[in-house]
Amino acid sequence: MKIAMVGSGYVGLVSGACFADFGHDVVCIDKDPAKIESLNAGIMPIYEPGLAELVASNVKAGRLSFTTDLPEGIRDAGAIFIAVGTPSRRGDGHADLSYVYAVAEEVGAHLANDAVVVTKSTVPVGTGDEVERILKEAAPGVRFAVASNPEFLREGAAIGDFKRPDRIVIGTDDEWARDLMREVYRPLFLNRAPILFTSRRSSELIKYAANAFLAVKITFINEMADLCEKVGADVQDVARGIGMDGRIGSKFLHAGPGYGGSCFPKDTLALLKTAEDYDSPLRIVESVVKVNDSRKRAMGRKVIDALGGAEVARGKKVALLGLTFKPNTDDMRDAPSIAIAQTLADAGVEVSAYDPEGMEVAQPLMPAVTMRGNAYAAAEGADAVVIVTEWDAFRALDFKRLKDVANAPVMVDLRNVYDPSDVRAQGFTYHSVGRA
Ligand code: UGA
Repeated sequence: MKIAMVGSGYVGLVSGACFADFGHDVVCIDKDPAKIESLNAGIMPIYEPGLAELVASNVKAGRLSFTTDLPEGIRDAGAIFIAVGTPSRRGDGHADLSYVYAVAEEVGAHLANDAVVVTKSTVPVGTGDEVERILKEAAPGVRFAVASNPEFLREGAAIGDFKRPDRIVIGTDDEWARDLMREVYRPLFLNRAPILFTSRRSSELIKYAANAFLAVKITFINEMADLCEKVGADVQDVARGIGMDGRIGSKFLHAGPGYGGSCFPKDTLALLKTAEDYDSPLRIVESVVKVNDSRKRAMGRKVIDALGGAEVARGKKVALLGLTFKPNTDDMRDAPSIAIAQTLADAGVEVSAYDPEGMEVAQPLMPAVTMRGNAYAAAEGADAVVIVTEWDAFRALDFKRLKDVANAPVMVDLRNVYDPSDVRAQGFTYHSVGRA
């Protein structure tokens, strides 16, 4: 089947490459000529493990191509996916749907064959209705259906998540659209990936409910970590102990500096806006957003405490290891490191940093921070070394070397990468999250 993917950002590019790998004929479309040009030259606009290879092999096999020409790209496509961004609207936190609707208008203006138009972008409840209205007006007489098919892939693990999903959610009441979507995902059914057919509105809400629930889980364990520190308990044991209960589950109970990224912060806010519009408050999600926001600066204060407190912190040096919101990405959106670096700068602390992929994107967001070429260079002269993001490169640090280059052997491990007794045995003062 020919599939058109409108929007070649994170979701569009990964999904397009994976669909091509299933054997479909995929055209990825994007308005940005520079992006298409570099994709055609085999250069990926984002860092995602395995993506460049997947794109290259499918381009070579003739199943994947890139274009800025939407009318040509959607011609004869059985499924047209909308995978453009839905950023937070400046000022009010609503999802900005202008890109989605602009695509719907353009698709409608050029739609000449039967097609299912599928929203893969994260869109608030009811967006599919509006897309359908736009298409109806723009393409009278053409047979089409609008379906919702939210994406659940995680950055850094996107290809694995796409190919081995926990579930595929498809929202449409149209039998023809369901059959066509079954065909699109057929290779995954053969692997017994469960498929859930729902109404379009339920499907749209599932995406937000899933992300909000995961944000709740993370924030719950983060607050529990604070309590663990006060009462002398170990949050990792607590997480293990509750996670073994099948009703709770062990995933997303890793305490840390707060969630960031392109999805949880934006999607929780957008969900709250929907809740407000429908006069149906989501008080738990409201609290989660507030708690998570304040946690990021609190982590900066935790580092200041490790330096001996605000009175003595001025003029001291701190090395941040890891800046991206999580490992295996260069994404800096809402990364806790931004608030941490700012809190430290506000206290007069000098900050250096190293991140395997994120420094270029991070530098303009934290202009006062000095970027260094590796962990040890960042730690030179530091009064504390802080693990902010759990990149593999920081899981087996040479503590002797760190101690040699640093000014003081102090480590603040905001991801609980190390066993406290191991680090202390190396002569370090060690602070972590939710552990005595
Ligand atoms: C998230 C969801 O996990 C995906 O299912 C979803 O498709 C995606 O958003 C999206 O809506 O597009 P992602 O933002 O890539 O994926 O990253 P996650 O792995 O979920 O991590 C999000 C944040 O939570 C990170 O800052 C991470 O460090 C933090 N986190 C995660 C924790 O602090 N503790 C945990 O136990 C898990």
